[in-house]
Amino acid sequence: MNRFDANSTTDQVIDGISLQGQLAVVTGASSGLGVETCRVLAAAGATVLMVARDEEKLESVAQELRRQQPDAQLHTQIMDLADLNSVRIAATEILLHHGQIQLLINNAGVMACPLQYTAQGFEMQFGTNHLGHFLFTGLLSDALIDGAPGRVVNLSSAGHRFARFNFDDPSYQNRPYDKWQAYGESKTANILFTVGLDLRTRERGVRAFAVHPGVIMTNLSRHMEEADLIALNERNPSGEPLVFKSLEQGAATTVWAASSPHLAGRGGIYLENCQIAPAAVQGKGIGVESYAVNPAAAERLWSLSEELVGQSFEF
Ligand SMILES: NC(=O)c1ccc[n+]([C@@H]2O[C@H](COP(=O)([O-])OP(=O)(O)OC[C@H]3O[C@@H](n4cnc5c(N)ncnc54)[C@H](OP(=O)(O)O)[C@@H]3O)[C@@H](O)[C@H]2O)c1
Repeated sequence: MNRFDANSTTDQVIDGISLQGQLAVVTGASSGLGVETCRVLAAAGATVLMVARDEEKLESVAQELRRQQPDAQLHTQIMDLADLNSVRIAATEILLHHGQIQLLINNAGVMACPLQYTAQGFEMQFGTNHLGHFLFTGLLSDALIDGAPGRVVNLSSAGHRFARFNFDDPSYQNRPYDKWQAYGESKTANILFTVGLDLRTRERGVRAFAVHPGVIMTNLSRHMEEADLIALNERNPSGEPLVFKSLEQGAATTVWAASSPHLAGRGGIYLENCQIAPAAVQGKGIGVESYAVNPAAAERLWSLSEELVGQSFEF
């Protein structure tokens, strides 16, 4: 029986689980949920490859984790998800040193930024949150399959409920930019990607999960102003004020997705509060929208993503 819920912490969900002998690759390892995820996976015995774009920040976080856990097996890798060339270089460097990966945590993300573009000209939230991770995962897929059984965890958000994915104009070329809608679209893409990935890798022993971590005070809110918090509260489907989680509670669903025996044989699903989420219902704060787990939309996004990154992936 699964005994975890919204209040469970990372240390509670990993208790009694050993990740000895596993390699975990974690993006967004320089801040917030990514740091806590790395800390806990390493404490459970995994070798952790911490991936982030800012070398100084990443090294200082890694140094602090090494200070806390002198025996931790921690490596670092620089990668800017907003530049597909950087993603290709990082994946090549990772594969040079690691032939097998058991856990890939696609955690990095940017939220509600002003209209900006990635190096290849994609809207920043779509490009960073989805396309960069799509390419990264595809490039690492052989190592994931060679390392099976394994899991891929894609950080999505309840913000996926703001918007279905816009296939006609993913980079806002022909419509006014709305930073929250763009965030919602990118987070819907994270779930659709999870569905498409799981379908391709499940027979090879690699299962994919999408996660909503809850609402946690991190650097993710760097682009937010007071008015945004009010607007966000208004968009909250339950109509109730947002309830904040601690960092340890926030990263718990990611760690649960990566390690829980309760999820054996499952995949292509959306998790929140250390549970498999129900279907979203109007007026309720939890749940996954049907448009985000629609298999036809997942296939359409897969084809579009391959086209946009200019590369196909065989499994
Ligand atoms: N916090 C919440 O309430 C919440 C709610 C729902 C979903 N989430 C999701 O949880 C994930 C982690 O968020 P967080 O709250 O921990 O936020 P955070 O503290 O801002 O951490 C985000 C991480 O992503 C990295 N990142 C951003 N752009 C990048 C790029 N172009 N290339 C490489 N790395 C990049 C950041 O690097 P820098 O340190 O260099 O900026 C940082 O390491 C995100 O996917 C977010 O959407 C969070």
